[in-house]
Amino acid sequence: MDQNKLNTKRIFSGIQPSGVLHLGNYLGAISQFVKLQGDTNSECIFCIVDLHAITVPQDPKILREKILELAALYLACGIDPTKSTLFVQSSRPEHSELAWILNCFTNMGELNRMTQFKEKSENKSNYSVGLFDYPVLMAADILLYQTTHVPVGEDQKQHIEITRDLCERMNNKYNGLFTLPEPMINKQTARIMSLDDPNNKMSKSSPSPSSYIGLTDSPEIIREKIKRAVTDSGSEIKSGEDKPAISNLLNIFAAVTDREIADIEKDFEGNGYGEFKDALAQAVISKLAPIQEKYNKLIAGKDELRKILADGSAKIAPIAQKTLSEVKKSVGLG
Ligand code: TYM
Repeated sequence: MDQNKLNTKRIFSGIQPSGVLHLGNYLGAISQFVKLQGDTNSECIFCIVDLHAITVPQDPKILREKILELAALYLACGIDPTKSTLFVQSSRPEHSELAWILNCFTNMGELNRMTQFKEKSENKSNYSVGLFDYPVLMAADILLYQTTHVPVGEDQKQHIEITRDLCERMNNKYNGLFTLPEPMINKQTARIMSLDDPNNKMSKSSPSPSSYIGLTDSPEIIREKIKRAVTDSGSEIKSGEDKPAISNLLNIFAAVTDREIADIEKDFEGNGYGEFKDALAQAVISKLAPIQEKYNKLIAGKDELRKILADGSAKIAPIAQKTLSEVKKSVGLG
């Protein structure tokens, strides 16, 4: 097992191919991934987590399309397949197999405490066992690759904590099977909030498209959504705990322009929300324009996308197979 572990960093993260990829996913996750892949001491593995997507109902035809769309978006945002590995979760059966084994070491009570499960199952008369078990599959994704670091947004923190608990439990029982992963959460962009309710995070599964900016939204739609974004009482362009809406917009502005919030506040001293929102919309449009241009080219070459994903899956197969085989031996299955 030891040669499967690294002295350098091994980064692993995943995104679900469901709903619309939005600015929160980009700022909280993908833009971090792109920065990390430039570090020569890091090996980066990024996954399209289709098995997680089917924990809620999906139309098979749409899901198949969404997987390739997400691959194109990863690449358009800057993931370079010569520097990082990009693959589809279900293409490697080791994820499901390890998840099953980990299930047998996870307590119901631990999963019952997961806030994302509580939110997603709330007000539903029925939901799948998969939705409940989702964090264990996520733990399998991470532990399978002896991951050292997991870049994610704030909403995934609790899932990484349970991954770490499972890791330590298995390591204590079976003598160091897995590497203990650390979360990597960028403070400023960890939680981009909804445009129509700044008390809730921007979310892929939101029924209201005006709550998020999709990475493929047209300039007109972006302008319209930002114009309609809720603001706080008062008219000052100033961040603060009592101003969640304007703080969120300032945060987005700072992240897409790589500037400090205080700097932007200064620029808009004495201006109203109208001018601020126009400038924010322009900044978001400028940030997304090159991504959209690349995306439109990439999505036209589906065979090339499939090839990149298949190559990625083949490349990381030996790591996944080695970890799984050690785990099976340890628990008495091989
Ligand atoms: P998913 O697909 O919901 O989201 C993908 C990534 O985007 C981040 N994110 C946000 N960041 C900031 N502000 C927001 N409003 C916002 N919304 C989403 C998420 O934190 C995530 O990093 N369970 C995961 C996918 C997964 C995974 C993994 C991640 C499966 N296995 C292993 C890391 C490692 C999920 O559903 O992400």
